[in-house]
Amino acid sequence: AEGVVVAIDGPSGSGKSSAAKGVASARGLRYLDTGAMYRAMTWWMQHHRVDADDAAAVAEAAGRPDITMGTDPAAPTVRVDGRDVARDIRTQDVTAQVSAVSAVPAVRERLVAMQREVIAQARRQAGGIVVEGRDITTVVAPDAPVKIYLTASSEARAHRRSGELSGSDVDAIQADLARRDLMDSSREDSPLTQTADALELETTGLGLDEVVAILLELTDRAA
Ligand code: C5P
Repeated sequence: AEGVVVAIDGPSGSGKSSAAKGVASARGLRYLDTGAMYRAMTWWMQHHRVDADDAAAVAEAAGRPDITMGTDPAAPTVRVDGRDVARDIRTQDVTAQVSAVSAVPAVRERLVAMQREVIAQARRQAGGIVVEGRDITTVVAPDAPVKIYLTASSEARAHRRSGELSGSDVDAIQADLARRDLMDSSREDSPLTQTADALELETTGLGLDEVVAILLELTDRAA
C-alpha cells in the first residue's frame, strides 16, 4: 500500500517543525523540512558570493548546489555539497535573504522536483511522510490525504521563535517574521496561501502535545 502524506503549511513560527516531527516520530513516518532546503540554497548563494537579491544570478546558479536531506524525524539532516549545514542555515544572514532566494522560480522548480522525489520514495519504502513548508498543500503535494494550515497570533509566533533563538528581542523578531510572511505570501510563484481544502489549525495557546494529538487524529483517520 502507498504510504500517507501529511502536508503542513503555515507562516514562520507557527510551530510547524515541532508538530511535524512529533507526528512523524509517533507514527514511524519520514519528515521533510522544505524550509531547510530553501535555507540551504540561500546559504550556498552566500557562500559562493552570489547576490541573493539578483534574481537572474540566483536563477543561473540554482542548479549548482548538491542538497541532500536526511528524513529521520528524530535526527533530520541537511547537507550541501557534502557539508553538514544544519547550523549555518539558521543564522540571521540566511534568514534575512531566504525569502528573496525562494521567490526565484528556477529555485522553486528545482527544489519542488527534489521534494516530490523524497515524497514518492517515502510512500514506497516507508509508511509515508510529513512535509512542512509554505506551498506543500497547494503545489508540492496538493493530493495529500491530510492537508493542514497551521496558524498562531503574531505575538505567539514571535515568542516561540525567541525561545528558539537567543539574544534578539521579541519585537525585532515579530517585525522580521512579518517582513518574511509578507514576502512569502505576496510573491508571484507559489505564494503562501490558505486554501479551502486545507484544515486550519489555530495553535495560539495550545501546547505542542495538544497540537500533535490533533494532527495524529487527522492522520490516523486518513491512513
Ligand atoms: O520554514 P522556514 O521559516 O525555515 O522557511 C524559510 C523560508 O523558506 C520561508 O520564509 C520561505 O521564504 C521559504 N520557503 C518557501 N517554500 C517552502 C518552505 C519555505 O518558499 N515550501
